[in-house]
Amino acid sequence: MNDDAFDQIMTSLDARLIVVTTAAGNERGGCLVGFHAQSSIDPQRYTVWLSKANHTYRVALRATHLAVHFLSTDDLPLAELFGTRTGDDADKFADLDVEAGPGGVPLLTDCPNRLVLHRTALLDEGGDHVCLAAETVEAHSGGPFDPLRLSHATHLEPGHANEERPTPPTERALSAP
Ligand SMILES: Cc1cc2nc3c(=O)[nH]c(=O)nc-3n(C[C@H](O)[C@H](O)[C@H](O)COP(=O)(O)O)c2cc1C
Repeated sequence: MNDDAFDQIMTSLDARLIVVTTAAGNERGGCLVGFHAQSSIDPQRYTVWLSKANHTYRVALRATHLAVHFLSTDDLPLAELFGTRTGDDADKFADLDVEAGPGGVPLLTDCPNRLVLHRTALLDEGGDHVCLAAETVEAHSGGPFDPLRLSHATHLEPGHANEERPTPPTERALSAP
């Protein structure tokens, strides 16, 4: 297996970047995501992959809904906020205009191109990211836009490295006797 070839192909694809947000109880989470795709035409389905290292993943485990915000080339500051800070020690939403969507999911007012998703399945097949498949319950388009891509964000240092694991692994484990 040639790791360099895999990386070279993935770099050439130059993924479009999104911000995924979610909420459970009174906790909100959100992070920058490059692993995502449309996964059905009819019904309209979308799938994202969240890192097991992330605060957002742990909130998403308990959430019913996710929101996917498609970033444009004007949104580098948002990419920096959601991709380099962690909800483990910062409220990324504190200085943003946010509305509550279905299931309390935070919707970023300044991102007009977005989907609201209802989670239908979760797959952990042993990698460092977990697949969350979802049906689209709302879609909002602000018109054509130039997507922010991985090549615009290579200088960003992720808030969590993919190999990190929180201890305890979930908030539920934290409150267990
Ligand atoms: C360019 C870039 C792409 C990223 N892609 C993903 C991704 O696909 N999935 C993911 O869970 N995290 C991804 N991350 C990492 C998270 O956005 C980052 O670690 C974030 O700070 C985690 O925040 P949280 O702990 O509040 O969830 C990416 C980060 C960067 C800089």
